[in-house]
This record gives sequence, C-alpha cells and structure tokens, in this order.
Amino acid sequence: MITLLTLAVALASPAEERFLATEVIQVLRVPGPLAPALDVVGLERAPATRVPLAPQRTVRLHDRDANEALDVLGTPRTLEVRALVDDKDLAIVLEWRDEAEDRGSATETDRFGDAAAVQLPFAFGAGLRLPYVGMGDEGAPVALHLQRAVEHGSMARSLVAAGFGSSTRSVTGAVRGAMRYDAATHRWRALLVLPLVTAERDLRAGLVPIAFAQWDGAGRERGGNKALSSWKVLRMPGAAVDARYLAELSWGYDGAGDVLRGKQLVDTVCAACHRAGDKRNAPVGLAPPLDDMGLMATPAYLRESIVAPSAVAVPGKGWSMRAADGARSSVMPPFAALPAADVDAIVAYLRTLGVPAATSKAERSSP
Ligand code: HEC
Repeated sequence: MITLLTLAVALASPAEERFLATEVIQVLRVPGPLAPALDVVGLERAPATRVPLAPQRTVRLHDRDANEALDVLGTPRTLEVRALVDDKDLAIVLEWRDEAEDRGSATETDRFGDAAAVQLPFAFGAGLRLPYVGMGDEGAPVALHLQRAVEHGSMARSLVAAGFGSSTRSVTGAVRGAMRYDAATHRWRALLVLPLVTAERDLRAGLVPIAFAQWDGAGRERGGNKALSSWKVLRMPGAAVDARYLAELSWGYDGAGDVLRGKQLVDTVCAACHRAGDKRNAPVGLAPPLDDMGLMATPAYLRESIVAPSAVAVPGKGWSMRAADGARSSVMPPFAALPAADVDAIVAYLRTLGVPAATSKAERSSP
C-alpha cells in the first residue's frame, strides 16, 4: 500500500501530492466476509487517518441550550478513521474521545445519544462536483449512514439527504454496525458496514469521496447541531485512479495563493456580509460566518463559492431566492471577474480559518 501511494506521488503535481498526503484514507483489503462486529479482523493493519471536524454553524435547532453548548463544546474535534473492504462490503471504523458516554432514551425525550456518521455521494467522478458537505444539496444528494448510542446498544440508520433542513427519506438495510464506549480511555468506537454496490450507487472506484459527522449527546447535539469534516477521499485498493478526477479533486491543495493578499481582499470586499477571522463587523445572519472554512470546505468548493455562488446556495433565511423556473440563486454576487490570482489568494486565506496550528499540517498516523 505504501508503495502504491509513493508511486502515485512520484507522478503527481504538487497539488496532487499534497492532496494525496492529507486528504486520502487508504482502505485495506481483507479476505472477508466483513461482519458487523467491532473487533474487525485485520483492523490493526488498516492505516488510521485523523480527520478534523468543526461545529456546523449555519443552520441551527430551535433549542437555545443546544446552540450555546455547540459554541462551548466547540472546535475542533478529531475522528480517527480506518477503512477495510472485502468483495462485498466496505467497513468504516470511527474512533473519538468523548469524556461522557451519552445514550439516547426512548422514554426521556431530552436525552441524546452520542453518534457518528459517514456521508457519501451517489454520483462522483471526473466532471461531477462534490455535493455540499452539509448533507448534500438539491443538485447532488448524499447517503448518510449513522450509528447512534441508545439505551441498550446502538441504532443504525441510513438516510438520503439533499441539504440541511431538507426532508430526508430513509433507506433500509443499507448499513449494519455497532458502537462501544471504553470507559477507561473515554473513547467511542463505531463501526459502519456498507454494501459496495446498491441499486443507487457503486463504490468500486479508485477514489471515493466521503465526509464525516459526529454528535455529542452531552451538548444535546442532534440533527444539524453536530461537528462536520470536509470531504475526504477513500483510496480503494485494486481499483485504478482516474487521473482527471484526481486532478479535479486536488485543485488548490498546492496552496499557491498569497494568504496575506487573500486576507486583505476578504477584509475589504467580503466583510460587509461575512464575519471571518478577526474581521467581525458584518451583522449576524446576513451571510454564513467563514470561520471554519479551513476545516469544512475544499479549495474547489471555496473557489466555486466565490466565482459562482449560486452553484450551491448554503441554506439559510434570506440567503437565496428561488426563480420561477425553480432554480435557486444566491444573494451573494458572483465575483467571476476577479483575477485568478486573487481568487487563489482568497481561497488560500479561507483555508487557514479554523485550523489550529497543530493540525494545519498533515496529521497521519500508522498503527
Ligand atoms: C452581499 C453579501 C455578500 C458578499 C459581499 C459576499 N458574500 Fe459570500 N455569501 C453570502 C451569502 C448570503 C451566502 C450564503 C448563500 C450561498 O451559499 O451563496 C454566501 C456564501 C459564501 C460562501 C459559502 C459558505 C459556506 O458556509 O459554505 C463562501 C465561501 C463565501 N460566501 C465567500 C465569500 C467571499 C470570499 C466574498 C468576497 C469575495 C463574499 N463571499 C462576498 C453573501 C455575501
């Protein structure tokens, strides 16, 4: 596996090299069959990748205590991710530190269980943009596979979503799994086992996009109140990498933009609507704060948000309008005329927001 990655890196552009080093989760092939049991055979050989998550702040619950807790319990969090595959299934193992074991209750409606989820697009590959990381969008739905701790064990759910606050429909039988809390180390382990092929999607590709979410029951987190990662990519063993898709996914990872110039531009051009970094004069609610963009957004998403904001309109009151033909348009003006170097500079600056100094470098660990 190391050799494969080295080989790919030898041929890669600087952006691809950086992307492969920081955004890719290597999946380990095992003979299988993968059973939905927490002690997955071969797990200790699967490389662990640490994925940072930031609290989702654009769409909030109508629950002040929960919203205040999300600000306090805050940012960032880390999931340790390992993945294995056999002929039929993909197993994702998520581990994270949580001081308290919280389990949802069927009888007490104000007790919320700790939970974690993965999100996968239905369609991906060269020429297709990634769905909005907050549960997809109207043009690009996602499948959300979730494990939540309940009174006696855990509950698995699979949903199809097309944006925060959109109605979700359940799909049954698409995920199996389990959860276990280790009181000695204060760590959760959650396992999700997904079929590689369903009627709606096929994961047998070299690069498969995936994003992660995590809920802390102690902070009354549920629904949209959660922590979210940016899109990462599973490197599936034995499947070829599409060079065009790799080039698209790695756009901007070379960090070519001038961060200082980017900050100047954001502070002058964008700060009327957005709060970002130390520039906080925009009225609350006019536009989403850009404070966690470095943890939640890919460079390509940021570029698109600047030059073509209506491609994906972040859901929020007054942030977009629906035209007669049904298309949604953002109230943000497109900055399509900005010189490419300025767009690169803004993207490079936004990529620093929310990223703590210690995790700004690639954080990878091998077992
Ligand atoms: C007139 C107000 C306004 C201005 C000026 C503006 N924006 Fe926006 N922006 C918005 C609104 C409203 C949204 C949410 C709807 C959407 O997704 O387009 C948004 C969304 C975004 C997003 C997506 C945020 C997310 O949570 O995913 C980014 C990134 C962004 N803007 C960057 C910029 C940058 C960079 C500039 C300056 C070059 C800028 N904006 C200027 C109003 C504005």
